[in-house]
Amino acid sequence: MSLLPRVVVLATGGTIAGSSSNPASSAKYQAATVPVTALLDAVPALGALARIEAEQVAQVDSKDMSFALWSRLVERVAFWSAQSDVSGIVITHGTDTLEETAMLLHLACVSTVPVVLTAAMRPSTSLSADGPLNLLKGALLVINQEIHAGRDVVKAHTSAVNAFVSPVAGPIGYVQDDFVRFVRTPGRLPVSAWSVPSAWPQVEILASYAEPGRIVVDALAQAGVSGLVVAAAGNGSVHQSLVEALVDAAGAGVAVVRSSRTGAGHVAIPASPRPASGVFVSAGDLNPYKARVLLALALAVEPGLAKDPVALQALFAEN
Ligand code: SIN
Repeated sequence: MSLLPRVVVLATGGTIAGSSSNPASSAKYQAATVPVTALLDAVPALGALARIEAEQVAQVDSKDMSFALWSRLVERVAFWSAQSDVSGIVITHGTDTLEETAMLLHLACVSTVPVVLTAAMRPSTSLSADGPLNLLKGALLVINQEIHAGRDVVKAHTSAVNAFVSPVAGPIGYVQDDFVRFVRTPGRLPVSAWSVPSAWPQVEILASYAEPGRIVVDALAQAGVSGLVVAAAGNGSVHQSLVEALVDAAGAGVAVVRSSRTGAGHVAIPASPRPASGVFVSAGDLNPYKARVLLALALAVEPGLAKDPVALQALFAEN
């Protein structure tokens, strides 16, 4: 007798677990209220596809994501993927910070079974709920009939059902009902599994824009941050007044990484990332939020990287 595959659903909250007293409204609702068991019961067809086990890891609005929850999620993925009969893991998540968790899972979970994030832009009680359909699909981030690589995917619209895009490379596949088509492999596969620290270094994000004061950089450096990611203009350009402040911060041992605030594209990798000349490490095609995840993991493993921009640049180039 052939058994259906065993699939574990790890629920963390979000709009996919949201509810509203008015099913006609997809905008007014409370995220993270419906238990995962109820979400799965609403999709009886799942039972014909897999033996599903559910675990309520958390019940949060993802705007309130925490390091503790990230650690717990990575630990639960490691636990379930070590069970020899588990064929896949699905994580339900809020859309707002999903791109950060996707980046973390890309870096920290080198799993032998597929680890799939899914989410919804509309609450489970909405007449036009998109969550049940998303739950029926599978792989990496699966949402709105598209499959995206966790490293690449970002949320690019406040409310549209097709809010998620992989701006540089596009989706890696498509899903229609039970038909799954991969059109390419992810451009960047994990190099090795990063361990998730018990205490995360403080890494903050700031932006470059017309005439920024240096007050933010100075305050953050004085507060003792380990790293700063700059949401820089265009191809990683930083306003001169920020460059001076960032050179001072780097001199005091703060890692500085340039990402772009444009939302897509690659920040050119400098021939030599020398903070003293204001040419800081490039985040490549990672947006500031994803670059922050990598920088924090890197500084947790090797705090000395803050003073070694060449090694830090190499790390950004390969992850
Ligand atoms: C959240 O991110 O938890 C709420 C918003 C959403 O899931 O779309």
